[in-house]
Amino acid sequence: MKRTIVIYPGSFDPPTKGHLDLIARGSKIFDELIVAILRNTDKAPLFSVAERREMIETLTAEFKNVRVDTFDGLMVDYAERMGATAVLRGIRAISDYEYELQMALLNRKLKPELETVFMMPAEKYSYVSSRLVREIAQLGGPVTALVPPVVEHRLRGRFDPAIKLASETPAKKRKK
Ligand code: PNS
Repeated sequence: MKRTIVIYPGSFDPPTKGHLDLIARGSKIFDELIVAILRNTDKAPLFSVAERREMIETLTAEFKNVRVDTFDGLMVDYAERMGATAVLRGIRAISDYEYELQMALLNRKLKPELETVFMMPAEKYSYVSSRLVREIAQLGGPVTALVPPVVEHRLRGRFDPAIKLASETPAKKRKK
């Protein structure tokens, strides 16, 4: 019988609890799920592709049908090379819909036989985004509810000096 392979592509900078929730859901309905991290993005990333890969590998070790890979170029070409029949994307709120619809339809134009499957993460993660996680962490806010401990630890490592500076400067000013 044919195994159904799905690609879950994204930037994952950093991976969030919402991403993990979607991976868990996807792994239940597809035979194999490939988390595919986009390389060669023009965005300046917070974490290198290698760091993101390592984090996601750690986080998904318990799922036997999930593996992590990286790709560049067109996602539809990568999906074809992997023998995937579907692409998995998460939709959190109506605001995601327009962008996701556009991407799904363009991908369909490029490769009609590749289906895009949308899944919704748990409600409690519907407001979590990598961009806001980066911003909160950078400003020294708590991200425990938004990212797994492994990612939180890495974020702390990345931003600790900034957090220290931000919290020390006003205190010093107050003393004067
Ligand atoms: O997590 P993101 O940043 O929303 O993921 C976007 C991603 C990586 C899925 C998308 O940018 C993508 O597939 N890029 C690869 C290049 C490509 O195929 N572009 C055409 C999209 S219609």
